[in-house]
Amino acid sequence: MLAVVFLLAGCAPAGTSTPERSEPPDPGTFRTQLVEDVTAAGSAVHIDALQRIADANGGNRAAPGPGYDASVDYVAQVLRDAGFDVTTPSVQLEDTEGTVRNVVAQTRTGNAENVVLAGAHLDSVPEGPGANDNGSGVAALLEIAVRMGGSPQLPNPVRFGFWAAEEQNFEGSVGYVDSLSPEDRERLAVYLNVDMVASPNAGYFVQGGVGGDLAATGPPGSDVAGRVLAEELAAVGVAAERVEFDGGSDFASFLDAGIRTGGVLAGDEGRKTGEQAERWGGKPGVEFDPCYHAACDRAEAIDRTALDRFGDALAGTIVRFAESPRQ
Ligand code: PHE
Ligand code: ZN
Ligand code: ZN
Repeated sequence: MLAVVFLLAGCAPAGTSTPERSEPPDPGTFRTQLVEDVTAAGSAVHIDALQRIADANGGNRAAPGPGYDASVDYVAQVLRDAGFDVTTPSVQLEDTEGTVRNVVAQTRTGNAENVVLAGAHLDSVPEGPGANDNGSGVAALLEIAVRMGGSPQLPNPVRFGFWAAEEQNFEGSVGYVDSLSPEDRERLAVYLNVDMVASPNAGYFVQGGVGGDLAATGPPGSDVAGRVLAEELAAVGVAAERVEFDGGSDFASFLDAGIRTGGVLAGDEGRKTGEQAERWGGKPGVEFDPCYHAACDRAEAIDRTALDRFGDALAGTIVRFAESPRQ
């Protein structure tokens, strides 16, 4: 019960202790430190690397293709250097000829029966380099993984997934979910989807637990994911807007499997309303990402403030789930 209160409150009340849980000694400390360590500058290093990969491979990182393969190699190497167990399981594409690889990395510590999974698609569209869509999501998760390290003192393992071919009916994440046994799926405490978190005219949207039916809200428990994400954005000074699951991203693969899911996004081709501009700043009446699926979705165009805030909020959320017993 106490641990559930920690999850909801995000930190331990001063002066309390939980004798039955020796790890972490002071819940909340790991979270505070990680949020401090995760920076936009750290994430931007990875966006810049992915931009260079696109520039060297015909201007995109589409899957299948050489820019995508180079992206897989880059992400796998960063994670190995950070001390993670890394695999690159293959997925056979159905719509296009070819095989593509996901990248999956997991910390070496914690109770394997209760795994926190965060994921971002690693491919771009053929039309552009995909710095925001979805270099930003990949970069935020890589920055979190690197700062966390492969053997954190956390009660639950953290798994990071980098999905192939989201831009082709989410085939990478569909293949990944299909590859999991019923027991493997049961071990997932939550899936957190990260797709476009540095849109040039950024919004702050959170998915999970909101909507009129199960397809919109996600399975039971998704409301907790949405609430914690919104709380962690509030902790960095942002009033998030909670929205339904729609528009399509890898979250669909997990929702379909009945896995509780949350998501964040800074917005794609939709336009920012006057009210949203008042709340978040930026330009009313303009697309969240004017370079959505275009050649100008480049590293120079991203919103570093949004990247910073989403990185911190994701770090805080991941740690809170990694410190929480199963609900
Ligand atoms: N998945 C869409 C794309 O990659 C955009 C999107 C992001 C939609 C996040 C919904 C949520 O183009
Ligand atoms: Zn896209
Ligand atoms: Zn995307």
